[in-house]
Amino acid sequence: MFEGPRAAIVGELPEIVKLVSWMFGFDRYGISINKVFPHVFCEENVENLRVITCDSRIVSHLSIWEGWLYFYGIRFKVGLIGCVCTHPDYRMRGYASMLVSDALAKLRRDGADIVMVSGARTLYSRAGCVESGILYDYRITADTIKLITDCRDILEVEAYTKDKILDLIELYQREPIRFRRSYEEFKILVDRMFTAGVEAEGYVSILLAYRMGKPVSYVALLRWPGSDLATVIEYAGSRTAILRMLYDAFRILNVERMRLQVPYGDWDLVTLLEGYGLKPKSSYAPASFAIIDPVRFVEKIEPYIEDRIGVNVGFKAVSCDDCIELYISGETMRIEDPRKLTAILFGRPSVVHNLRDGIHVDMEAIPKVFRRILPLPSISYGLNYI
Ligand SMILES: CC(C)(COP(=O)(O)OP(=O)(O)OC[C@H]1O[C@@H](n2cnc3c(N)ncnc32)[C@H](O)[C@@H]1OP(=O)(O)O)[C@@H](O)C(=O)NCCC(=O)NCCS
Repeated sequence: MFEGPRAAIVGELPEIVKLVSWMFGFDRYGISINKVFPHVFCEENVENLRVITCDSRIVSHLSIWEGWLYFYGIRFKVGLIGCVCTHPDYRMRGYASMLVSDALAKLRRDGADIVMVSGARTLYSRAGCVESGILYDYRITADTIKLITDCRDILEVEAYTKDKILDLIELYQREPIRFRRSYEEFKILVDRMFTAGVEAEGYVSILLAYRMGKPVSYVALLRWPGSDLATVIEYAGSRTAILRMLYDAFRILNVERMRLQVPYGDWDLVTLLEGYGLKPKSSYAPASFAIIDPVRFVEKIEPYIEDRIGVNVGFKAVSCDDCIELYISGETMRIEDPRKLTAILFGRPSVVHNLRDGIHVDMEAIPKVFRRILPLPSISYGLNYI
């Protein structure tokens, strides 16, 4: 007897946690998924844990986290979708596809502006999502990082401990693109590394830099067991200090290589890295994105556009029967596929995993006036990743 898609009930939480921990391989490390994503797999979020059951057994699952994103002072409602999985015995029956459609419908009902799905599959592109946004992918080796140590910035670098939470919050709050996190949410996202048991193994580390006793930046890093590679998962504050801290991170985490993904628009960090001779090999999308209502989204970003090119440019989007038209300064762009509009607004990276989505964006072919403002600076998950 098949049931769903529907919201899970509190009593089903342990079964969901078990299925997802197994499907994503966390159980191999003795880690339970509710410790990794405590803000998602909890009673308060049960409405956003969407399931399909067969004979009362959960066979397919998808998680949603709803929140807010600040983008240069504009507030967007965001829906993050992740942990999509179907038990191996029940695959290829369209269950995950149903859950994705159900999640997008729920997010539309809940008034979301932007949806971010952590993954790149036809499962998501068929539902209207597209790999977009640009993260420049830097690979830094222990040798190249030595160049950065000559920078004369006098910093004190310290490992994060729970009493430093306010320093992290202060630094994150200054970022132009960031998720809204209450004090409590920030604590949950940061302190989970203690509760998940990953910190004890040295997998997740947060380093803070202080100049004259004041916090100036932090980096959060992830290293998988047995790997000589650390990945920067979030940073905030002074870009010079961030680079200086990466030098310390090599030593503290005892790694040989580091991956640093820098969002399009963070020119401070990009130019600093270039100054040290580092260039990204490629760029990747932070997520598969969907814009729920393009006309409303374009209305919302108007202040950002006006700040850049003035108030009398007539920037707007109009929804027609078979396309969306974007207007600016007397120029028009007709876009048939809403996914293409998303890719134009957020940018398309150099590497796309799901080539079957059929989306091609040639920024050079776009009227020049649009290229003055697009793509928009990229959004990255940071610690909000699900
Ligand atoms: C990926 C996964 C969730 C799919 O679950 P599922 O219930 O078998 O999914 P569906 O039956 O709805 O779809 C299976 C495939 O057929 C495709 N499909 C389904 N209906 C289709 C249709 N009408 N026309 C064309 N393609 C269709 C889907 O797009 C999907 O393709 P993809 O895997 O390339 O994205 C499942 O394999 C899984 O749990 N994998 C392990 C965990 C994982 O990797 N999760 C995804 C993280 S991004």
